Amino acid sequence: MSTTQVGIVGAGPAGLLLGHLLHLNGIDSVIVENRARDYVIDRVRAGVLEQGTVDLLMAMGVGERLQREGLRHDGLYISFGGERHHIALADLTGGKAITVYGQNEVVKDLIDARIATSRPLHFEAEHVSVGALDSSRPTIHFRQGGTDHEIRCDFIAGCDGFHGVCRQSIPDGALTNYDRLYPFGWLGILAGAPPSSAELVYTYHDRGFALFSMRSPTITRLYFQVPPDEPIDQWTDEAIWDEMLMRMTTRDGWKPQVGRIVQKSVTPMRSFVAAPMRYGRLFLAGDAAHIVPPTGAKGLNLAASDVLVLARALKAFYESGRSDWLDEYSAVCLRRVWKAQRFSWWMTTTLHRSPDETAFDHQRQIADLDYLTGSRAAMTSLAEQYVGLPMEISFESAGL
Ligand code: FAD
Ligand code: DHB
Repeated sequence: MSTTQVGIVGAGPAGLLLGHLLHLNGIDSVIVENRARDYVIDRVRAGVLEQGTVDLLMAMGVGERLQREGLRHDGLYISFGGERHHIALADLTGGKAITVYGQNEVVKDLIDARIATSRPLHFEAEHVSVGALDSSRPTIHFRQGGTDHEIRCDFIAGCDGFHGVCRQSIPDGALTNYDRLYPFGWLGILAGAPPSSAELVYTYHDRGFALFSMRSPTITRLYFQVPPDEPIDQWTDEAIWDEMLMRMTTRDGWKPQVGRIVQKSVTPMRSFVAAPMRYGRLFLAGDAAHIVPPTGAKGLNLAASDVLVLARALKAFYESGRSDWLDEYSAVCLRRVWKAQRFSWWMTTTLHRSPDETAFDHQRQIADLDYLTGSRAAMTSLAEQYVGLPMEISFESAGL
């Protein structure tokens, strides 16, 4: 049996960021992750960091490689009817931008930072469970290398993603779940090809949505809409490229550069919120509490804003015994979460073709995109949400 102040379940972006924020405030934590270190680092996921997430990583002192290798984008393209329309994110938001830097790079940097602090981070923990959540000493149990471990904590942060154990350990009826499934998913690839556009291209095509993104000057990241349960092995590399080119090529001849596919997968899409994001001394953060369809590129960024709010509350508790910020944690997070949910739903339903859409829906979507790309007011609205709405609290209040 061991003790800590904050037990953190999950070493994804939420858990690792929280661990480092607590470290900077002199608060002890133990991070328990059920996967292997290499698996966590190699998992290909999100790639777009909002301005506020970049600022947070810099303020935490873990943004050195991000600043060197991240690709700052001052704009993006919306493509429909065979034409690309530029949205000047930075011009429309007083200089804010997004940075393309793979989630796996963020996670790698945060694991390195954690190891440098010598604070505990357990990979390959088996049979992880949490208990005594409504007591003052909640516990984490797990098995590692054949030995059972118990950690007694002041608080537990459930940062274990959508399929984790923390949310599932909350008694039935204590949470309200808000859920929406979409009748499509994304087939995504990583390709060894230099990006043929310096900025992202979101495409609405008669055959469905497609997205051009990148990871580095030599690696392109591309997606297109498929049915949610599409078997990936039914797609040869050649068929994937044919479909990408068919959807993305514009009348002026722009198209992605073709290259060797190094990774491919299908992701279903859903919107989900569990409220409140707390039960007793268990606090949920990131995907454990909510998920968004990826079209708005918000998932990782919401995980960062949640843990900033949680770090502020825990710092105040340990420094002055106040618990009002712990009590407000869920409400403060959910304000920003719901706005990101609304934006992600809007980006998704505007840019995808739905199997049950009517001819009216299709024309309305085209009008929506025509309005968006022709109105400075509409472009400004997209831009301020895409670069990220303000965090609800200041960095200073979380000890940065
Ligand atoms: P996670 O990154 O899921 O981290 C949770 C961690 O907890 C994981 O390391 C997991 O192994 C661990 N864990 C789970 N169960 C347990 C347990 N029982 N015990 C201990 N540890 C546990 N967002 C975008 O914006 N764009 C994208 O293209 C995109 N693609 C995605 C693709 C996939 C397949 C998935 C699943 C998500 C994607 N997202 C994307 C969303 C984005 O990656 C998430 O929002 C982000 O990872 C949230 O971080 P997190 O730390 O809350 O959760
Ligand atoms: C990427 C993923 C997204 O979900 C998105 O909206 C934009 C870019 C990416 O993986 O690069």
